[in-house]
Amino acid sequence: MQNFEYLSPTKIIFGQGSELRAGAESARFGKKILLLYGQGNIKVSGLYDKIVDSLLNEGVEFVELGGVQPNPRLSLVEKGIKICREQEIGFILAVGGGSVVDTAKAIGIGVPYQGKVWDFYSDKALPNESLPTGAVITLAAAGSETSKSSVITNEDGWFKRGLNSDITRPKFALLNPELTFTLPSYQTACGSVDIMVHVLERYFTDEKNVDLTDRLCEATLCSVLKYAPLALRCPDDFPARAEIMWAAAIAHSDFLGLGRLGDWASHKIEHELSAIYDVAHGAGLAVIFPAWMKYVCRHNIPRFAQFAQRVFRVEPDLEFPENTALEGIKYLEGFFREMGMPTRLKDLNIGDERLGEMADKCRRTPAGITGNFVELKRNDVLNILQLAL
Ligand code: NZQ
Ligand code: ZN
Repeated sequence: MQNFEYLSPTKIIFGQGSELRAGAESARFGKKILLLYGQGNIKVSGLYDKIVDSLLNEGVEFVELGGVQPNPRLSLVEKGIKICREQEIGFILAVGGGSVVDTAKAIGIGVPYQGKVWDFYSDKALPNESLPTGAVITLAAAGSETSKSSVITNEDGWFKRGLNSDITRPKFALLNPELTFTLPSYQTACGSVDIMVHVLERYFTDEKNVDLTDRLCEATLCSVLKYAPLALRCPDDFPARAEIMWAAAIAHSDFLGLGRLGDWASHKIEHELSAIYDVAHGAGLAVIFPAWMKYVCRHNIPRFAQFAQRVFRVEPDLEFPENTALEGIKYLEGFFREMGMPTRLKDLNIGDERLGEMADKCRRTPAGITGNFVELKRNDVLNILQLAL
């Protein structure tokens, strides 16, 4: 296990009615706030009215900005920064899924910064201050409510890029599983895939002596395997929604990645897919992650076999452990398919026309490497995309 430092300052308020605490929690950070949301789901569900009442009850003045799109765009971030500066906003409340929270984080670091906020997403600068943010979550998926990440798409060239900084972690996250009852099945499944892949990106490591975190990862994966199908069958199954919502927050808070280095190649490859084709992030991962697994599994067969045995209870083939490893990949892919997810690019109506472009753009280190478990070069990324066809 590697040495580590861990900071998780987000106050989590979990359970029925937690959204009603939005006013009181926001008031701790500012008397004039930006209320940020997506493309309308919160108005249809009635959540918007509850949040507004809660703010007004606490004497919190707000300016609102709606219209955050999935795969959130830089132009709206810039608009939000302008509003916050002009209106002297002191706090940003995000109400929605990962796209809304990521936009809030980007606005938060953009307001005090003199340069262009895209500098933070293109390795030109690191943020050292931010307006405080808080989140009311309506979709269990990205885990942005507890993560140190924000992912934004720049329409100029369609670059989708992530930023990692502890300074972006929200001050609080209000998690009421009931708010996810209205999710369409497709979004529930996309979210479940994203949660699982956040765990798996951390699970596949060569690091020795990480047994506790391995088992925490496996427990989280087993919970999603059990409860995602229940939530799909019955969207207002509170216990199932609660397990999934908690799994999302745990999976990307980095608690499961302590003492080891995550891989993250699949996320970087998928971000090219959702940048160019505007697919849902979880759907893109359901295609890319199994292809990545098939491409790299021979690098560490025992770890893939452990995954198969402990998560899918695959009977070990002691003579040919590679068979055990491959069975695990097959089961994971089958689970994604059972949830109605695409597992091939063709399921997303994507052909081979732009694979080279995605491989070229895929984010890499100055040495040209993507990923840590297996260091991928540009042609490896292309091979994975071809495997995903
Ligand atoms: O726009 P609205 O009306 O809110 O509708 C949204 C949107 O259309 C809808 N939705 C949300 N809650 C709902 C609902 N519909 C009905 N009932 C509800 N309760 O769902 C759609 C998708 O929302 P979005 O926020 O885009 O989804 P998600 O939470 O999956 O976030 C995806 C984004 O997060 C990034 C992804 O790349 C993608 O851009 N990620 C962010 C991470 C982070 N910051 O730590 C990590 C992830 O790996 C990921 O990359
Ligand atoms: Zn993700």
